[in-house]
Amino acid sequence: MMVQNAQENPLRVGMRSPRTPEPNTLVIFGATGDLTQRKLIPALYSLTLEGLLPGEFSAVGFARRPKDHYHFRSELKEAMGRHSRTQPLQIPVWDGFASRLYYCPSEFGDPAGYEELARLLHEIESKTGSRHRLYYLATPPTYYAEIAQRLGEAGLTRGEGGWTSIVVEKPFGHDLASAVELNRTLSGVFDENQIYRIDHYLGKETVQNILVFRFANGIFEPIWNRRYIDHVQITAAESIGIEDRGGYYEQAGVVRDIVQNHAMQLLSLAAMEPPATFEPNAVRDEKVKVLRAVRPIRPEQAGEFTVRGQYRPGVISGQSVLGYREEKGVAAESSTETYLALKLFVDNWRWAGVPFYIRAGKRLPKRVTEIAIVFRQPPLSLFPTADGSRLEPNVLSVTVQPDEGISLKFGSKVPGPQADLRIRPVEMDFRYGTSFGFAAPDAYERLLLDAMLGDATLFTRRDEIEAAWAFVTPIVEGWARSKAPRFPNYEAGTWGPDEADEFMERDGRRWRRL
Ligand code: BG6
Repeated sequence: MMVQNAQENPLRVGMRSPRTPEPNTLVIFGATGDLTQRKLIPALYSLTLEGLLPGEFSAVGFARRPKDHYHFRSELKEAMGRHSRTQPLQIPVWDGFASRLYYCPSEFGDPAGYEELARLLHEIESKTGSRHRLYYLATPPTYYAEIAQRLGEAGLTRGEGGWTSIVVEKPFGHDLASAVELNRTLSGVFDENQIYRIDHYLGKETVQNILVFRFANGIFEPIWNRRYIDHVQITAAESIGIEDRGGYYEQAGVVRDIVQNHAMQLLSLAAMEPPATFEPNAVRDEKVKVLRAVRPIRPEQAGEFTVRGQYRPGVISGQSVLGYREEKGVAAESSTETYLALKLFVDNWRWAGVPFYIRAGKRLPKRVTEIAIVFRQPPLSLFPTADGSRLEPNVLSVTVQPDEGISLKFGSKVPGPQADLRIRPVEMDFRYGTSFGFAAPDAYERLLLDAMLGDATLFTRRDEIEAAWAFVTPIVEGWARSKAPRFPNYEAGTWGPDEADEFMERDGRRWRRL
């Protein structure tokens, strides 16, 4: 069905583009959850607005709460007002899209639910002519294996004349053993090329631009190595707390929530070798090589290479906020970390001896994600700085969010006739917003479309996820064996515990002020 009233829509509603996938049906498991309302449905609606979804596209919500198709649609419509990036909602476009949303209530372990799903899929497909199916696991992770197995038992994992794929949300496992186990279960039911392990950071425009910046320009790659780079800082700072996810976060902590996945992805893109082609496996091969070259941190070294923090009450943007231990669903004596600083080395020819510092945390003063490449100082310092301090190093910073862009810091002469020439750091700045003048699509738009198009470049491969867990798991084991830090140890609204600054100072460096 074409979406009606295309003329009313300034965007290309209903038109086919080369990026329009074949008609398909998306089944969202856990469709009453937050992810569906905040991310998945808004992304599908935006894709519809841009004419990137086929008119015959349908989606089925599969979840435990009883409700019918109409109730499901009206709840989602209401949520769109809060979460869609394009406002106001274009009612004719929404109505066309929503008329192809369905709901299938069931427990995730109940075979009868999967029979009902099969029946509903046949009914939808007989109307739309589509034969392709994409399953999306947006449930709590404890259900992933069971859902995959039930789909297999119900004969729903092999298409009837079309493709069938499955998208698996993070967290993918909670340590190496559980990730290996989940991979094993999935591969008992799906082939690797049917499995899309999602890490939404890979769908962000700026994250993809790291590869373009490095490999589509000739001038950066020759200096992108140990001869010129002193160290790399990766920051994933958030001002928000854990919101309503106390139960989940208590088990995850920042190490599983951000570091094992998002931060390790940023690391592998910043450090990888150029792939031979831009084919999914060529790119992922190079990323895996980086992860495998990361020097292991043994459990007994965890204290030396990491600093953990947990926030206490504080003030952010003028608002008082609770401490972590006072949040809903969090134990009063919780030892879960909400901040982590980490130093690692990538032991290969390009990076030998160059430290990579990662810091990630909740309730820091602001939301900012960036990769900063800090270059070595010139061999001799000829010039005094304006304030008499040491000359600042050149820094190339890729801001992933929120003010997406890339900037280069270098020293410049302070204008003036004085005989004693003075130097001050200045910046050359590229910002997406000003250069391109439009808002970047949400990461989920890109990734959902890629999964429908069968492009796995921006999804995590089995060996990649296991390599990231192989690095992180001994650290977590080390923490479990040693005495917990005295939590809480940083005030909400500050840049983490004092130990994190001392950690850098020991190496003669300091965190970037963001
Ligand atoms: C999610 C984490 O994966 O990423 C959240 O579970 C975190 O805790 C979020 O807030 C950050 O994503 P973004 O896109 O806002 O940087």
